[in-house]
Amino acid sequence: MNKTTSHKRAITEKPHTSAVLEGRSLSKSFDDAGQEVRVFDQLDIIVPAGETVAIIGASGAGKSTLLHVLGSLEQPDSGQVLLQGQDISTLSDAQRGRLRNRHLGFVYQFHHLLPEFSALENVAMPLLIGGRGTAEANKRARDMLESVGLGHRLSHRPAQLSGGERQRCAIARALVTHPAAVLADEPTGNLDEHTAEQVMDLMLALNRDMGTALVIVTHDTRLAARMDITYRMHDGRLHRHNHGDFSAA
Ligand SMILES: Nc1ncnc2c1ncn2[C@@H]1O[C@H](COP(=O)(O)OP(=O)(O)OP(=O)(O)O)[C@@H](O)[C@H]1O
Ligand SMILES: [Mg+2]
Repeated sequence: MNKTTSHKRAITEKPHTSAVLEGRSLSKSFDDAGQEVRVFDQLDIIVPAGETVAIIGASGAGKSTLLHVLGSLEQPDSGQVLLQGQDISTLSDAQRGRLRNRHLGFVYQFHHLLPEFSALENVAMPLLIGGRGTAEANKRARDMLESVGLGHRLSHRPAQLSGGERQRCAIARALVTHPAAVLADEPTGNLDEHTAEQVMDLMLALNRDMGTALVIVTHDTRLAARMDITYRMHDGRLHRHNHGDFSAA
């Protein structure tokens, strides 16, 4: 076990003291033509600072919904989400937006880059929204794109990038603000095996280098096995897996 790993394990043992993101007793259901669809009920999750967490589970299990609730893109019916120890349900929409911009990054399954903007402009956007000046935002966006291997694609629009390049651009956009945590919904779902591996290597390297906690929804158990903690979502609950053991929920 190297130094980094043992440090990470030490954090895992006392998650409450260093949780970057915490869901407490979260419940969420949707109304489907008068019928209540309960997605999860009194669910708890802790994302320790600097840790990598995988969430696996069948289609429709509620993984994306959980990620949206944790990222304050959607409200839970009840329960609390704490971001950097702060209960986000007590905040106004504007305060919540600011906190999200400052501390969280998102990588969506389908990149969600803005089509009419270049790679550089897409990555600079969260910094500009966060109030940085154009020169600083552009410099940091360029550095970030270089670190994901896209220094030669700054002025390309999303349609002019390959699938893997788009996903790396989306990762650069999520990480450019140096967030405490990145929430990623099947970030490698549309990529071939080799490119998926590269994108995952990149996210784990950024986790190591920048200490960014990762919460990654994935169907790929091989990929999940590379994370510090793996949960399977089933029947509205999270079941923790022992490292690399995906035999039972
Ligand atoms: N806006 C909505 N209105 C009604 N039902 C919804 C809504 N969003 C999600 N659901 C339902 O909630 C359940 C969980 O959906 P969710 O998208 O979280 O699943 P998932 O685990 O991400 O699935 P997948 O692996 O297919 O992406 C599903 O049964 C879905 O139909
Ligand atoms: Mg989903």
